[in-house]
Amino acid sequence: MIGAVKQVVKEYRSSNNPIIKFSIASLSLCWNSVKNIKRFFVDNEFRSILLLQIFQSKNVHQTTPLTYMDRYPIIFSACKDYFGGKKDIKILSFGCSTGEEVLTLRSYFPDTYIVGADINKRSIAKCRKLPADNKITFIHSSYSDIQKHGPFDAVFCMAVLQRKPHYIAAKGISSIKKIYPFEKFEKQVIELDGLLKEQGILTVHFTQYSLMDTSVAYKYEAMGNYNQGDYRSPVFDKNSQLVNNPLPQKSIFIKSKR
Ligand SMILES: C[S@@+](CC[C@H](N)C(=O)[O-])C[C@H]1O[C@@H](n2cnc3c(N)ncnc32)[C@H](O)[C@@H]1O
Repeated sequence: MIGAVKQVVKEYRSSNNPIIKFSIASLSLCWNSVKNIKRFFVDNEFRSILLLQIFQSKNVHQTTPLTYMDRYPIIFSACKDYFGGKKDIKILSFGCSTGEEVLTLRSYFPDTYIVGADINKRSIAKCRKLPADNKITFIHSSYSDIQKHGPFDAVFCMAVLQRKPHYIAAKGISSIKKIYPFEKFEKQVIELDGLLKEQGILTVHFTQYSLMDTSVAYKYEAMGNYNQGDYRSPVFDKNSQLVNNPLPQKSIFIKSKR
């Protein structure tokens, strides 16, 4: 039955008759709604992302929880060298997803205090089941809760400050003002800056915007040449307009002023 309906839709999709066009569009809408409702009940990850988009739309950045162990070895090693084996430091993994980043950071920074924060409650519930030591804490992300654990010597904000990068690339979208405005990125960077100690490092990697375009840029100096040269998605200026042929953006910043 469903196969037959699909076949009819396929055959009539390119029709110029407005009634047929309207009927096909309505059918597709109904079909997609049914599929999404079904998915909402059977797919926990889909449900958690949809709820974030509905109830946390002001605060949420990247919604997908994709992550894996040792995702950024060059950056992690550079930051490790910066602290030169110091143990009494506090690290924040902002947007830690299901915790692999925190476990990875533990291997680079033994014996330090590490907080993993994420806005997705399902991901944080997964984090809490990980074999973590007692100097690792996972929290559901809110500024006031994170602040209670700070200030931090290092903040890692990796693949968080962006929205739908693959969709935007595929569609050739040249302004992301409506999808992910610069102001939202900047507000988050200012909050992260407020959590960081002087001489601390803020690592903002895989982003659609540059930290250097924000109002706190004057406090920061880029460390080395570590950049998001491996970021394949388009980047945008502070007016949310596409930057053509952008230079690779720096990723690790030292907070040299308060
Ligand atoms: C693609 S994952 C990145 C995970 C990890 N940092 C990495 O690079 O592998 C993006 C994560 O950012 C989280 N996120 C988005 N907005 C957030 C916010 N306002 N506060 C905390 N986490 C957020 C999402 O829930 C998701 O888990």
